[in-house]
Amino acid sequence: MTGKTPKYLSYGRQFLDEDDIQAVTDVLRGDWLTTGPTVQLFEHKLQQFVKSDYVLSCSSGTAALHMAYMAVGLKAGDRVIVPAISFVATANAVEYCGADILFSDVDPETGLMRAQDVQKLIDDLSPDELDSVVAISPVNLMGEVAEIEAISNIAKQYGWKLIVDSCHALGTSYPDSHGHMRTVGDCHFAHMEIFSFHPVKTIAMGEGGAITTNDNALFEKLCLLRSHGVERDSDKWEGTFEQKPPWYYEMQILGYNYRQSDIHCALGISQLHKLPSFMKKRRQLVEKYNQLLTGLSPHVKPVASAANGSVTRHLYVILIDFEALGITRINFVAALSDRNVGSQVHYIPINAQPYYREKYGRLTLIGAEQYYERILSLPLHVSMSDNDVTYVVEQISDIVRGL
Ligand SMILES: Cc1ncc(COP(=O)(O)O)c(C=O)c1O
Repeated sequence: MTGKTPKYLSYGRQFLDEDDIQAVTDVLRGDWLTTGPTVQLFEHKLQQFVKSDYVLSCSSGTAALHMAYMAVGLKAGDRVIVPAISFVATANAVEYCGADILFSDVDPETGLMRAQDVQKLIDDLSPDELDSVVAISPVNLMGEVAEIEAISNIAKQYGWKLIVDSCHALGTSYPDSHGHMRTVGDCHFAHMEIFSFHPVKTIAMGEGGAITTNDNALFEKLCLLRSHGVERDSDKWEGTFEQKPPWYYEMQILGYNYRQSDIHCALGISQLHKLPSFMKKRRQLVEKYNQLLTGLSPHVKPVASAANGSVTRHLYVILIDFEALGITRINFVAALSDRNVGSQVHYIPINAQPYYREKYGRLTLIGAEQYYERILSLPLHVSMSDNDVTYVVEQISDIVRGL
């Protein structure tokens, strides 16, 4: 064996250093705790990285999704197409608006929504159902990119808004059909893209999220939604008062408190400085996993990654034929855990969750089911070493050989 026995390796965790702690401490010693100059600076730095026209930070990825759906005016009677494989938040935010979900199937090998899955869903819809679709929300699962360009062509054809859940995909880029590299978050194809900065994500802010867009009108709406629908800019007041007193502000729409704080954004800025090194490290670990897992067993294989090396993985997922191996996933997870290797399953198909099953009935989405049956997320985070990867793969190999 070449890998050292490690301390417990969780499937994901943050990487923080003294610079991060110092950045937060500096804000704590300053005048602003909630939305102040550090929030603006974070938004500016993120905007430079993703290359969108606008960035709005907020309290979580879920808040970002909710605001994005509100910004396109989603309401009762509307429908949004959401892939069956994602974290529940992608779907839940549709429900917050009182709208309904159409679950799309996904590629059984990658868990990603494809244009053909969307087309199949469309073919099965009644004209009334099709008419009620307002938006589609592909998910850049694990950091890989769904068929965004092809899905955007479908969205354009029907006049739908394209809201891409990129919570897993900060740091990924991909070629478009003309061979131009696009950065996840640049909104070249999407009306809005969504990010999360939860500790297991590529950068950590404790809690945090962001929406990127190139549409000024959407951005203005998002600004209102983030803070109670209140407009403080006198140039934008609609004004029912004849004289505006100095304390005047206007609530123009019903909004929320989804603001981000300077404390969180100080951490976010410090983490963004490290993002290039995080990307490099994650790619190196993924490469090591791929190398070691190749040929390990015909029943264990990594989920394929886009070939051009521009993906930053949030999750490292393998597909295991548990039946062929003669072990249940529960026992496999337990055997890994006994060897200090954490693992997770991303995700149970959302449509199979009790809330959704009760609302929409039992759906047959074969791709999502086949994906779910075989997946396991292995440890992937920046504080891991190549040796840790070797150790994890050795444990898998050992478990498989012992069966
Ligand atoms: C794909 C996806 N969308 C949305 C979210 C919600 O983000 P947050 O936890 O920041 O609310 C998550 C978080 O895990 C996610 O994985």
